[in-house]
Amino acid sequence: MNKTTSHSPPFALPMRYITLGVVLFGLFALQLLAESLFHPFQMALMPSVVALTHLLTLGVLLSIVTGAVYQLTTVTFLIPIRNVGLAGKNFWIYGMGIVGLWISMEQWWTVGLLIFGTIVTISIYIFGILVMLSLSKSTVKGMIRWYIWFSMMYLLLAVAFAWTMIASIQFGIGSRFYMELLETHIVLATIGFFTCLIIGFSLKLFPMFTLAHGFSTARQPYTFGLLQGGLALLIMGIWLHSRILLTIGGVAAVAAFVNHALDLRGMIQKRMRKTMETPIRYVVVATIFGLISFCAVLGIALAHGGLTQWQGIIGFYILGWIVLTVMGYAYKIIPFLIWNQRYGTKAGKEKVPMMSELFDLKKSRWVFGLFVAGLFLFSCGMVLGWYGLTMAGGSLLTIGIGLFVWQMLQILKPSQLWKEIYSND
Ligand code: HEM
Repeated sequence: MNKTTSHSPPFALPMRYITLGVVLFGLFALQLLAESLFHPFQMALMPSVVALTHLLTLGVLLSIVTGAVYQLTTVTFLIPIRNVGLAGKNFWIYGMGIVGLWISMEQWWTVGLLIFGTIVTISIYIFGILVMLSLSKSTVKGMIRWYIWFSMMYLLLAVAFAWTMIASIQFGIGSRFYMELLETHIVLATIGFFTCLIIGFSLKLFPMFTLAHGFSTARQPYTFGLLQGGLALLIMGIWLHSRILLTIGGVAAVAAFVNHALDLRGMIQKRMRKTMETPIRYVVVATIFGLISFCAVLGIALAHGGLTQWQGIIGFYILGWIVLTVMGYAYKIIPFLIWNQRYGTKAGKEKVPMMSELFDLKKSRWVFGLFVAGLFLFSCGMVLGWYGLTMAGGSLLTIGIGLFVWQMLQILKPSQLWKEIYSND
């Protein structure tokens, strides 16, 4: 991503999604603090917790990821985004849908779940199909393409399962399979979609940001195979109620993470940039957290853990692996997009700030330090049922996220961004 290409989408397209994600991350931090202090996750699947989960996964993560995918797909696969006009309009459908869905989940308003769930479903289908149509025109081959292709497929499936759950809540259809639908939805969305997407783009981004060359790619097809096999076994295990299939699926996922971690290590060893920046170090930490999550899944499955323990592990996986990686890459992608828009054409002709001058990278140590410390306390509190720890962890997480949002807003400069987005429409 060291340059934009002639295929790059208009600046407004990725930036609208990314800005929405950053703003909602601030809102998420506040809701997390309120939940941690006033009812510290004592019951699994409470409406407020489900709303909080989706504020994070849909409002924050999917928004930022959608913006990044629109940008990175053009650079990685050397293709334009299909129907950019529709992609731009889809932002409004998405934004309206997730706000409505979040409020409906918070109030457990089942009609709202159906209306806004349908709107979000349509919007995500538009996104997924546009990316797949764009990808189909690319001649760039390799593992990344498979990862992105499969991640989109899993996203569409995860949302289809979500919509079926909502229909089941409203009309009672298939309600006896509700738990299977829910578990499949979680596995497809968190492991299928987010994990495939992150590992896929990491194969491009990690060497780019560490300036790694000449590392081995031999393990990559095995990582992909193990992840897809593990996922299939987990889903079969859910529907057949087979502990053996679930265990083998979990072991395959652990192996995929070990392989991916070894690949990152290979890239680090072959890097040209001597010092690794803090956000990129935490991308590695996040991979280790992904690995720990699957080991914990196996542990809890064998120990017959309850719903609250499962919720603790899912929370750790989403925050420790998905959110931490997205935060790490955001420190590289967001300043790049802003610098390129504001100073790209002026560079070399007049004095412009360097990208590193847009914000204070050293402060990111505080962001990640507080986030990781908070995550540990929060997850231990959830799994052990020690609510004092959950409260303390939730508070540290909130401060870490608050600092991150503040740094991103410093880079984005909302009042200037507003004009740029609307004059570039
Ligand atoms: C890719 C994004 C998504 C992720 C990662 C995700 C993740 C999750 C998770 C982890 C849960 C378990 C509940 C919890 O831990 O709070 C859940 C439940 C649920 N999700 Fe999603 N979800 C996503 C998208 C959606 C969408 C688009 C919809 C609606 C169309 C939706 C509707 C639901 C519903 C109705 C539940 C069940 C709540 C319950 O029975 O208490 N999800 N989701």
